[in-house]
Amino acid sequence: MGKEYNVAIMGATGAVGEIMRDILEERKFPVKDIKFLASARSKGKKMSFQGREVDIEVLGEDSFKGVDIVLASAGASISKDYVKHILDAKALIIDNSSAFRMDDDVPLVIPEINPEDCGLNKGIIANPNCSTIILLVPLKPIHDAAKITRVVVSTYQATSGAGAKGMAELEQQIRDYAAGSALKVDKFAYQILHNLIPHIDVFFEDGYTKEEMKMVNESRKIMHEPGMRITATTVRVPCLRSHSESVNVETEKKLTAKEVRDLLEKAPGVTVEDDIHNKKYPMPFYVSGKDDVYVGRIREDFSADKAINMWIVGDQLRKGAALNAVQIAEVVAREGLK
Ligand SMILES: NC(=O)c1ccc[n+]([C@@H]2O[C@H](COP(=O)([O-])OP(=O)(O)OC[C@H]3O[C@@H](n4cnc5c(N)ncnc54)[C@H](OP(=O)(O)O)[C@@H]3O)[C@@H](O)[C@H]2O)c1
Repeated sequence: MGKEYNVAIMGATGAVGEIMRDILEERKFPVKDIKFLASARSKGKKMSFQGREVDIEVLGEDSFKGVDIVLASAGASISKDYVKHILDAKALIIDNSSAFRMDDDVPLVIPEINPEDCGLNKGIIANPNCSTIILLVPLKPIHDAAKITRVVVSTYQATSGAGAKGMAELEQQIRDYAAGSALKVDKFAYQILHNLIPHIDVFFEDGYTKEEMKMVNESRKIMHEPGMRITATTVRVPCLRSHSESVNVETEKKLTAKEVRDLLEKAPGVTVEDDIHNKKYPMPFYVSGKDDVYVGRIREDFSADKAINMWIVGDQLRKGAALNAVQIAEVVAREGLK
């Protein structure tokens, strides 16, 4: 029998944390013991794991004794506050927040793209931003075949991208609207029901949002292409789960729509759903709960010499967060990195 690991999920009760628990079970990650860590708000609650009930522990400095791998998903400030204690306990942190993603000595990994970067870790491996992961899984095989020269992406991001409270806010607005009551706005800048909000995370002085610049900077780091020309517009939409992206990709070598379809059909982690005659294209409602990134509406961009338009959808709680983190843990286990 291979090595088994003591695993802690930091932020276990969150939108991503719960799915991390599910994916550890589904993929039979070799867990010796599990710890569910959350805030004092979750004190006294339990979560099930492999058929037994496990107490949720309130996160503290001593939470990591004996832990091998921490799947961190309680937000960037908590990761920054606790990383020292995690590293002091000789545990490896796979961090789902933005806290360390752009640090030079922290690998930022999508296992379908740059698994070898895990070997460079000094105790921290970062999980990329959800929209970045969903974008790059299908872009990588296109880049390998035809060298991408420019990417223009617009996102349509579900409310659960803002955590369990984001999803709850849309559900409450649906109930209040149906009851004729006033809608409450808390998590988002405006009412999200019947609306689109072109504003995710904070604005910078140049007019871009932090979410948009995460997509730009993280893509360059993961693809090892520091000069990659990429620009993004990120939008919150009234879906509960799964992010969608409209992508225009220019390449050095011309690719036909059929060539892109053929490439993506062979690509790991990608499902092509592209049959317009039978109304087959990916949609967030149907992709939710799936592991792959789905690609459809593949067509040549007639306004440019060598460019393709595509529509991409991925479950951001799974591949955009929890699944990618567990896949990183699998690389760590397979390569004996812990
Ligand atoms: N949602 C997504 O689609 C997504 C995708 C990729 C990455 N991420 C990133 O993943 C992280 C978690 O996101 P989420 O959407 O799962 O958020 P969430 O639903 O709001 O969950 C946050 C989790 O962190 C815990 N937590 C909050 N404050 C804490 C504290 N002071 N001490 C200990 N635990 C604390 C919460 O515990 P309680 O239940 O006890 O409050 C909960 O388990 C964030 O960094 C986010 O940016 C999210």
